[in-house]
Amino acid sequence: MFANTKHLADTRPSCAANGYRRPTGARPQADLEALKMNPAGNPNPPLPRTPVLDWSSFSPIDQAPDLPCIDDVGYSAVTTSGRAAIYQALRQLRLTPGSAVLVPTYHCPTMIAPVVLANLEPAYFPIRSDGLPNLNSIDSAAARRAKAMIVSHYFGFGRSLAEVREWCDERRIALIEDCAHSYFGYAGERPVGTWGDYSTASLSKFFPIPEGGVLASARRPIPDLGLSPQGLKRQLKDWANVLESAIAHERLAGINRALACLFRLKGRFGQVKPESDRSVDPSATSMMRVCDMGRISHAPTTAARALKAILPRGQIITRRRRNFALYARHLGQVPGARPLFPHAAAEAVPYVFPLWVDDADRVYRALRERQFPVFRWDRIWPDMPPVRDDLGPSWSHHVLQLLCHQDLSEEDITRTSLATIELLSEF
Ligand SMILES: Cc1ncc(COP(=O)(O)O)c(C=O)c1O
Repeated sequence: MFANTKHLADTRPSCAANGYRRPTGARPQADLEALKMNPAGNPNPPLPRTPVLDWSSFSPIDQAPDLPCIDDVGYSAVTTSGRAAIYQALRQLRLTPGSAVLVPTYHCPTMIAPVVLANLEPAYFPIRSDGLPNLNSIDSAAARRAKAMIVSHYFGFGRSLAEVREWCDERRIALIEDCAHSYFGYAGERPVGTWGDYSTASLSKFFPIPEGGVLASARRPIPDLGLSPQGLKRQLKDWANVLESAIAHERLAGINRALACLFRLKGRFGQVKPESDRSVDPSATSMMRVCDMGRISHAPTTAARALKAILPRGQIITRRRRNFALYARHLGQVPGARPLFPHAAAEAVPYVFPLWVDDADRVYRALRERQFPVFRWDRIWPDMPPVRDDLGPSWSHHVLQLLCHQDLSEEDITRTSLATIELLSEF
């Protein structure tokens, strides 16, 4: 059953056979055996899907690679989310209502909801095996009607958008570079976020912040967005959410218990809630509700601004790269699956490790049931027509996105890999 796991011995994870503990210092080989005995056991508390505030979040490190990031792009404004940033980018373009916006068939619905909310019409383009638009196969009528195009650097792999930029320029189509997955690094020959007329990013994917996004532009000044300020209650709630998530994952050693008591007293604290049941209603209205667009015109909270400003970035970069490499080692050669991109470029800071799984429904369902940190973009915006020469639908079905953020330890990655390998071997 564990034919492929011999190499995992090097990572020396620790855990008790029936209970998961955060790693401390050197870990004996016996612990790996214990992990193997119970590889798919549910980690308790569940592994975090997003970064979590930890004492180590504040530690600068010496050897972090010096990479550009969205903050370096000439003009920028902070928003409440990546989807809010996309919405604001579309507003800046002042498009006539009903104009077409080219969007990828492989998407998270939060990329499409801002288009619909801005009274614009999504027109879908196909994607190639590197995740870039298949420009040659874009429907010519859609291209003629399009006034803007949203292109993502999926999974944190920044790609050169030189061809896309040229294609858009020839047709006078504005380019929105979606950097929700790639806050740091290069996109080919340029830093991320500098290809688009506007670029957008998501803070909650890279920082221990409940919500936050960035709208940036290398070429166009961004005026005051007129965002409405958040009340005191919301400000406090956001700080409470940061702390609540930290203590739910036992990250603030020394004050975890005191804070947990405090939250309990206030009736706030509980186990990390599993995500609410996903709506099965496929209508656009229901999808819009799921995308929770209510706060796109609000200003970001002080928690988002302060943590973005003060947290050092070195750990974010190095741990994500380490975790990605660990997944690549564990899952590089397992029957029934293959890494979509086995290597992260030296100048990339990954968001997830994308794994193509043949029997994706079964494996994904089981990983989610056990609360492992994994996503799949299987919710497609309603009424998306089939598009030729497109890998989007197969990625939506087969590609599992295994989180590799900085607050997952090597042991967490190994545990998730082992559970995946075990599920893959169950036939
Ligand atoms: C590629 C992409 N763009 C935009 C978004 C929206 O970001 P946010 O969740 O911060 O609104 C997401 C969210 O998952 C995303 O994956």
